[in-house]
Amino acid sequence: MKIEICVGSACTMMSAMNILDYFEDWAEEIGKKAIEEEIDLEEIEVTPVKCRRDCSGNYDASPVVYINDKVIENANKDKIMEEIFKVFDFKGLM
Ligand code: FES
Repeated sequence: MKIEICVGSACTMMSAMNILDYFEDWAEEIGKKAIEEEIDLEEIEVTPVKCRRDCSGNYDASPVVYINDKVIENANKDKIMEEIFKVFDFKGLM
């Protein structure tokens, strides 16, 4: 699973770095848990990305996050987790 977090200026102004930090930690945590419990889990990639213009150059859609290329506007932790639950098989880890 690919989680890309825009760190362009509009998204950064709207807390993208907090989202990036949170999901980097979350991915690391779940990865460790999977290893401890010997569960073969799909890799979770959390990556900062440059502005792809989904913010339209203003703050209305920021911060913007991409989950497996699906665009999530006005992203926050709850919205992102909701999307992750739709596409990621936790195999009983959460
Ligand atoms: S600054 Fe994030 S999509 Fe433009």
